[in-house]
Amino acid sequence: MAIWWMGWLVVMGTVAGAVAQADFQGATHMVPFEEDTISYNKTPSTGPIARLQSRIDRGEVKLKYDPKSGWRDSLLEALAISPKSQTLVFSKTSLQRERITPATPRALFFNDDVYIGWIPGAPVLEISEVDAKLGGVFYTLEQTETAQPKFVRNNQCLECHASAKTMGVPGHLIRSFKTDDQGIIDLITGVSEVNHRTPFEDRWGGWYVTGTHGKATHRGNLHGKAAFQMAEEKPNFLGNLTSLKKLVDLEGYASPHSDLVALMVLEHEAHFHNFITRLHYETQMAMSRYQHIRYLRSMGEGFLKYLLFTEEAPLKARVKGTAGFADHFASLGPKDRRGRSLRQFDLEARLFKYPCSFLIYSEAFDMLPRPMREHLLQRLHEILTGQDTSPEFATLSPETRRAILEILRETKLNLPDYWRAESVSGAR
Ligand code: HEC
Repeated sequence: MAIWWMGWLVVMGTVAGAVAQADFQGATHMVPFEEDTISYNKTPSTGPIARLQSRIDRGEVKLKYDPKSGWRDSLLEALAISPKSQTLVFSKTSLQRERITPATPRALFFNDDVYIGWIPGAPVLEISEVDAKLGGVFYTLEQTETAQPKFVRNNQCLECHASAKTMGVPGHLIRSFKTDDQGIIDLITGVSEVNHRTPFEDRWGGWYVTGTHGKATHRGNLHGKAAFQMAEEKPNFLGNLTSLKKLVDLEGYASPHSDLVALMVLEHEAHFHNFITRLHYETQMAMSRYQHIRYLRSMGEGFLKYLLFTEEAPLKARVKGTAGFADHFASLGPKDRRGRSLRQFDLEARLFKYPCSFLIYSEAFDMLPRPMREHLLQRLHEILTGQDTSPEFATLSPETRRAILEILRETKLNLPDYWRAESVSGAR
């Protein structure tokens, strides 16, 4: 009886979560990406890792091997990924799960189109890239010294990285579950897909977090029953930490931080990538079946809502990271003439000052099949100029719409001509 009851809770938990977080009806259905239209397995990637491999093979780039950290630091440098992006996760997942513990967390690093996982002493680096057409592509790189390092595409990763939790496409996972002292997760206590909509207090079960956040609470830095009990009696027991020194020895890691702002950007980004991959696939399939994308309208609207952070969980207190990730990230631009950028942070009420994802500059967006890209740009223009007054976008004030419109006009290449002209019913 008790077991039935537990099962019911799991199902209800999942269903309730899915409804609250739904992007569009059917967002978690698996897409047949092995079949002909997408042909995921048979199509070679042209993403950043595939391109780096060609440069290595041609002798244009030489990675340096370090006896302790292997290829990690050299690879980060070759891909221009900052060590400040490091986040630390100790819940036991991945093909190398037995090596991940609260004493030896997995370090994740990321930029706009690559994610890298490093575990101390593990035989391989785990890497996912965003190919502009294929979406998430997964590789391992053996941690042994050789003149010709090889990234090996590994479809075993899809056992976890292509599921309802990644929008039914090969993609990225960020979760938040309570764990025991070994890092083994407790499946009934969590959120299986964290993104910018996830309430602050539900985030970071299984992760270390360095940063301050006032009275707001989160689940980071806690493992084992005793710690969670303490946190119940004393909110923010192990919250607001600016150093992990007392919790874990990070000798040999690229950085002693698991920066709170890096975590928040990572969570926004991972779901964005899954969503845009789903749009790529669905558009290709719709075009080959019907030669139009009219049936994909609600998916497009869902994507615009995500792009514009309309359902972002509000911050309840000012937040700050510890690694300097925010300054690094904001400095990447591009900026308009007035110095404004979509990478500028707010960190008081919300993540970004101008809530339109910086990933609008990504190759994955620019390479969307034309009918979808044109449709999204048309709708985005209607929203930002105030011609669209639908309640879905009502969270965006006229000033915010105007600012985003001006920033995009000056910084986004290849916008259709009607974007350039001053609009008739401007948002002011
Ligand atoms: C047993 C399930 C599982 C398998 C198999 C797995 N992963 Fe993951 N992976 C996860 C989970 C879950 C996360 C999210 C972080 C966490 O909660 O540990 C993750 C996160 C990642 C990340 C960080 C960003 C992202 O893409 O989500 C990378 C990179 C990654 N995995 C690479 C790989 C590679 C490469 C393989 C195959 C060699 C692989 N993983 C196999 C479960 C798995």
